[in-house]
Amino acid sequence: MAELNETELNKAELNENLDLVVTARRLVTPEGVRPGRVLIAGGRVLAVEDVDDADTVPASVPRMDAGDHYVLPGLIDSHVHFRTPGLTHKEDWEHGSRAAVAGGFTTVMDMPNTVPPTLTEEAVREKAAMIAGHSLVDHRFHIGLDPERPELLATLDPEVATSAKVFMAGHHTAPTVVRDPVALEKAFVAAAEGGVQLVLHAEDDLLFQLLDGWWGDPENYREYEARRPRSGGIAAVARVIELVRRHGTKAHILHLSSAEEADLVSAARAAGLPVSFEVTGHHLSFTDEDTKRLGARTRLSPSIRQQADQDRLWEALRSGHSATIGSDHAPHTVEEKTQTVQKSPPGLPGVQELAVGVWTGMRRRWPDENPDVAVARLVRHLAEGPADLFRLPGKGRIVPGADADLVFFAPDATWMLSAHDVRAKCGWSAYEGWTMTGRVERTLRAGKVVWDAATGEFGDYDGRWLSCAPAAVETEGV
Ligand code: DOR
Ligand code: ZN
Repeated sequence: MAELNETELNKAELNENLDLVVTARRLVTPEGVRPGRVLIAGGRVLAVEDVDDADTVPASVPRMDAGDHYVLPGLIDSHVHFRTPGLTHKEDWEHGSRAAVAGGFTTVMDMPNTVPPTLTEEAVREKAAMIAGHSLVDHRFHIGLDPERPELLATLDPEVATSAKVFMAGHHTAPTVVRDPVALEKAFVAAAEGGVQLVLHAEDDLLFQLLDGWWGDPENYREYEARRPRSGGIAAVARVIELVRRHGTKAHILHLSSAEEADLVSAARAAGLPVSFEVTGHHLSFTDEDTKRLGARTRLSPSIRQQADQDRLWEALRSGHSATIGSDHAPHTVEEKTQTVQKSPPGLPGVQELAVGVWTGMRRRWPDENPDVAVARLVRHLAEGPADLFRLPGKGRIVPGADADLVFFAPDATWMLSAHDVRAKCGWSAYEGWTMTGRVERTLRAGKVVWDAATGEFGDYDGRWLSCAPAAVETEGV
């Protein structure tokens, strides 16, 4: 064997501590898709090497070859409702995180509309303690805005939360709606002062109250849509943009549902305002035509709208105007969903279906697109985008020093989704009967397998609560 120079000697020494080497022909890195080798030690990426570099790794180190699958960074869903505490008959972290890893997600950000809602730093810490030992995925929480105490955001400890959820409109599972415009403005002022990223359910509650007063309870889903029209979203988004313009607050508008809202936010963003938006898997996958057939399953808040809206949201994804894709994983039981239209709560499970559902849609819409370009877009919205926006250190990219969260993704596999596949506790999916393109074959978190499709086995429930170190907080996101 040739003599080793000094760098190679150091490398050989480092390699003694390796836990795993993943080799891939299609490694999805920030520089693009390329063949490579990911060296993993202590749950982190130690190095990303070209495969033609000298392989100094001792033969004793375990290896995995991803073959023709893409190797993606562990995906991040910045919008789930895993229902702890208080609503665990709908979902819990064991089931929710199983659905997440089976769908390629290794990090989720959970919403505060639980019972009781998560409105204080203490409540966030308590929630983290409840979840410890029950989650396959790493997690962070959006704190809820307390409409009675918006000023709390000015002094929010970034170790506890860097983002706050604001409900501008009410529905079955929205307990803390900001109806007072003065309180809403105070929240924008306080969030700007505290450097807090707002995430908003932006619909106009006063308009909805007016319509409910005129029309009474809906009797079918067409009538429900008429009581929750697009104008509600448009009015609220316009208001958010003006508040951002005035106070400089960072605002991320969740589950955008109409073409007009996408136009408004894109223009504001182009003008340099710190406003961004999320598109959900269900607004990309379904239209009001589906709701006629699926009824309660695609009853959502905001409503599912028309084909032209869906087309505009896909265009936002393609042009990069949208920052993140979220599942808004919001399960309800079959019993709850099969009540009358008025009582049936909005929401569907979606974290497991999100990446494959969006991939399926992308391949169908743009079949001639180079899959490497398509996969980069998926990763931008489901990994890099949320990692940057919410300042999640070590997440979103396969680079040295990052957490060794990796997903083996088979881009051309086709399979039909049935209720049997569903890991969410509620046991149903609006995507049942869909022929999916793409399958998550294996998911690794911190260098350990947490989901293996070949065996159907899950890993350890030792997902971490991601506290945000002050140094990371100072780094500006996108
Ligand atoms: O459809 C929805 N369901 N929209 C929300 O904003 C909340 C969610 C839930 O918690 O069920
Ligand atoms: Zn939600």
